[in-house]
Amino acid sequence: MISSDESFRVIQVTDCHITERAEVRVFDMDSHASLVRVLRAAKRRDWPPAFLLATGDLVETGSECAYRRLRRLLEPLGVPVYCLPGNHDDPDIMSNSFASGSVRTVRAFGFGAWRFVLLDSVVPGVHGGHLDDGALDELDGLLGGHEEVPTLVALHHHPVAIQSAWMDAMGLDNGDDLFARLDRHPQVKAVLWGHTHQPFEGERRGVRLIGSPSTCRQFLRLRDEPAFSDEPPAYRRLLFHPDGRFETELCWVDAAE
Ligand SMILES: [Fe+2]
Repeated sequence: MISSDESFRVIQVTDCHITERAEVRVFDMDSHASLVRVLRAAKRRDWPPAFLLATGDLVETGSECAYRRLRRLLEPLGVPVYCLPGNHDDPDIMSNSFASGSVRTVRAFGFGAWRFVLLDSVVPGVHGGHLDDGALDELDGLLGGHEEVPTLVALHHHPVAIQSAWMDAMGLDNGDDLFARLDRHPQVKAVLWGHTHQPFEGERRGVRLIGSPSTCRQFLRLRDEPAFSDEPPAYRRLLFHPDGRFETELCWVDAAE
């Protein structure tokens, strides 16, 4: 842990889609090998981070076996990895698989001068996301009483349209409800997500809105039908400052690495 007057770096990885075995490919690729390459690049450029944020679709089919395989990759990193679930995850199996050790599912935690709140927007059996009243009340509770602490809220599904019809049909279906709650808590500086396998940067009432590409394959942007892009795997680097400012940058990892 660092003191509250120091800056610190965080790495976001998302949509790793790890399968049970190397032979089981996803998006016509070895997603495990891709994550290995991404982590190797992160170790060369940005190590050590304070922690990793893993924002869902960590495995392809939500099986214990796939989570074990992912854990074997993340645990030796020697830094905490905080995970939230996506539509390809099974939230219960995921939290049981990550119940102890350095890879964890948590709702909220503080680091340095900042606070991080991780939401579960998964609706069982469908690809789109939703935050029910219970989840929104819980969010209110986690943010309440911390008005002085700059906060990042992370979830899997995109809460705003990204101008891609097929992807927007499976975003968070009540982004307005989320923003209505966030409007009550001026300490929220950013909302961060995965799911879309493409970058996004926007802003709403002083809150930065940030989407990140996958550690495996990306989708073409601004398309109404699904299509892969030839962009490489990626992770996101975030640098948080004690005064509530932060900087962020995408780090693409090409095959040569
Ligand atoms: Fe995904």
